[in-house]
Amino acid sequence: MLRYFTSGESHGEALVAFLSGLPAGLHVDQGFLDRELWRRQQGYGRGGRMKIETDKAHILSGVRHGITIGSPIAVLLENKDWKNWEESLPVTEGDPSKHKAVKSPRPGHADLAGALKYNFPEARYVLERASARESAARVAIGAIAKLFLCELGMEVLSHVLSVGETMLDREAAWAEIKEVSAKNDVLLSCVDPNTELRMKEEVDKVLKTGDSVGGVFEVVAHNVPPGLGTYAQWDERLDALLAGAVMSLQAVKAVEIGSGIAAAGSPGSKVHDEIGYEAKDRPTKFSRAHNNAGGIEGGISNGEEIRVRGYLKPISTLRRPLQSVDFVTREPVKAAYERSDVCVVPAAGVAAEAMVALTLAKVALDKFGGDSMQETKRNFEGYRQQLRDF
Ligand SMILES: Cc1cc2nc3c(=O)[nH]c(=O)nc-3n(C[C@H](O)[C@H](O)[C@H](O)COP(=O)(O)O)c2cc1C
Repeated sequence: MLRYFTSGESHGEALVAFLSGLPAGLHVDQGFLDRELWRRQQGYGRGGRMKIETDKAHILSGVRHGITIGSPIAVLLENKDWKNWEESLPVTEGDPSKHKAVKSPRPGHADLAGALKYNFPEARYVLERASARESAARVAIGAIAKLFLCELGMEVLSHVLSVGETMLDREAAWAEIKEVSAKNDVLLSCVDPNTELRMKEEVDKVLKTGDSVGGVFEVVAHNVPPGLGTYAQWDERLDALLAGAVMSLQAVKAVEIGSGIAAAGSPGSKVHDEIGYEAKDRPTKFSRAHNNAGGIEGGISNGEEIRVRGYLKPISTLRRPLQSVDFVTREPVKAAYERSDVCVVPAAGVAAEAMVALTLAKVALDKFGGDSMQETKRNFEGYRQQLRDF
């Protein structure tokens, strides 16, 4: 059973991620993990922190001589900013005068709900864990899940569909998404350069006004065989698992599978993907006229690309803060401000790739099992033969 956890505070010493349940014998390319972590740090509109940090995945356990050994994997990501926080956020009691309190909760962030829940007098500890710094840990283990999926021929990438009101007005082809993901100079990860420049203008606008902006990313899983997930139980449906995984990312407020949102307002005849039987170089000869279903029907992958969209609300830390209340005096004040991103759509897409990869790795292992990669691949090949013979 594939399971994973993360731990760590935004300004603590390190993040740690645990991944348990992968078969033995998977090659782990450290350079690939670091490249994925780098991708999460990119995008126009990120805050100052991205200049301090260059995340590196330090694998502590579960990998020896470059391959997984079937035991739990732990990955550590050092927080380079820790040296600036050692005195204000120590593990030991430390000096209370050095403590950096978050004195007034930010509307839209976890500050108020978290302080009320945990009975904290201010929101420092809330921010430390609610912050999306945590998503770096997910990207590290998501990269290992991607390496596993790659052994079964699957790939997971993302691109940006919209920033603010600027939207890509067409579907992005897999080759374009690959190209945009391979760039060493990331702007807003949109496959159309003109739309991307207009997206940049949206970010420039909020940079000028001290505001922030959200948007939509799309994660695409390529070459997924039909048959992952099932309708047999509510909590085994692939669409439900993916929606939960992507929604669990900070600031994602809606998830769409395929063209789910437009489908709700369209007649069935315009939505459903008509079936043919002339496909070549595919797991089966069945083909589809289009892919409005986003590769999932009845909670099961149907052999088309899986397309999952995440809708991000705008960042809640504003340079021109909204109205709030002082935690101590209860007087009206402006919400706290701490160095912050203003647009994170490309980065959230990369974090969502990790969540999609972890989810697909889980359902693939549920189906194919195996304690070694040889066993998993043998089972997978047997199933592929069954599909060819169907
Ligand atoms: C990659 C990424 C980076 C983020 N960076 C910031 C940030 O710099 N400042 C901020 O206020 N929120 C940031 N957020 C969003 C907050 O973490 C999130 O809004 C907050 O934890 C509350 O959770 P919720 O929006 O899911 O309710 C970021 C989100 C993501 C996905």
